[in-house]
Amino acid sequence: MTQHYHSVTRDVYKEAALAPQEGLCCTTTPIWQLPGLTLPPRMLEMNYGCGSTVNPRDLVNSPTILYVGVGGGMEVLQFSYFSRRAGGVIGLDVVDEMLVACDENLVEAERKNDWFRRDFVDLRKGDALNLPIDNDTVDIAAQNCLFNIFHDDDLKRALSEMYRVLKPRGKLVLSDPVCDVPMPENVRNDERLRAMCLTGAIPLADYVKRLTDIGFGTIEVRAKRPYRLLSPRHFDVDSLIPIESVEIAAIKDPMPADGPCLFTGRTAIYYGSDDLFDDRKGHTLAQNQPLAVCDKTAKALLGLGRDDIYVSDSTYFYDGGGCC
Ligand SMILES: C[S@@+](CC[C@H](N)C(=O)[O-])C[C@H]1O[C@@H](n2cnc3c(N)ncnc32)[C@H](O)[C@@H]1O
Repeated sequence: MTQHYHSVTRDVYKEAALAPQEGLCCTTTPIWQLPGLTLPPRMLEMNYGCGSTVNPRDLVNSPTILYVGVGGGMEVLQFSYFSRRAGGVIGLDVVDEMLVACDENLVEAERKNDWFRRDFVDLRKGDALNLPIDNDTVDIAAQNCLFNIFHDDDLKRALSEMYRVLKPRGKLVLSDPVCDVPMPENVRNDERLRAMCLTGAIPLADYVKRLTDIGFGTIEVRAKRPYRLLSPRHFDVDSLIPIESVEIAAIKDPMPADGPCLFTGRTAIYYGSDDLFDDRKGHTLAQNQPLAVCDKTAKALLGLGRDDIYVSDSTYFYDGGGCC
């Protein structure tokens, strides 16, 4: 069965390359509109992602970016906007028709954007499960709405491949559907629904565990939004199954001795009578100033049982800064 689902996936994306399908994947995430960037219409129609993996904060100093599962090429073009050099972005896909469509869209993008040259993107045939890329060579490794399709062993392999090719302290940036209620086996094993990014989703905590098990020392949950609803009216399910799309950065930092740092958008505020509170573990809270804290620090601060430290719940919106 595992080999068969790959061939169904390739068929789904062959169809989506030959005739753009606007309803496939897609979320409420706004498309990056950047000064001087014009996206060709077919590239927009072929936006098959479920969030965004492009974040200007990750993209200083013209990094080398690997993008796995290029689709119509919108995000490889957006990444090129920041790297702006030949081969700065390496784009891989297993579907020949998708590589052709992506190439055509990038040629059209060159016509529409003075700053862009087609050779900024090195487009290659390549499989997420066996990346044709040397160890420790890329600064950013991105995938959008692909890994959720993979069954568990393949997911672990795809994540390990991303870890392998990243330089130390490099970042895996991803967007994928997650689902915190159990997905019924019948739809989970429906290869076409799975290929359409509807039924392969696993719980967020499981996804994070797979990342930290591989060795990523820091995880940032940057955004989480409603994505799709499997309802008994339209799918073979007994109750509503809400699916969310999540944006995560996993950083190839050394693993801390006390376990990974997971940022889920929690903030600590000290409101005691001193100017600051120092936990003597590297965290200083200035009076009534917010400090973004990882879940480990949030738990430790709450564990002190003090009546002058507030710790927020996870907002699942994190954009940097703070402890660790
Ligand atoms: C849901 S689409 C996402 C496309 C693109 N990331 C975007 O955001 O628009 C999944 C993409 O992964 C490609 N793909 C499927 N299986 C793959 C594999 N094993 N390795 C690399 N790419 C794959 C598909 O051809 C398709 O382009």
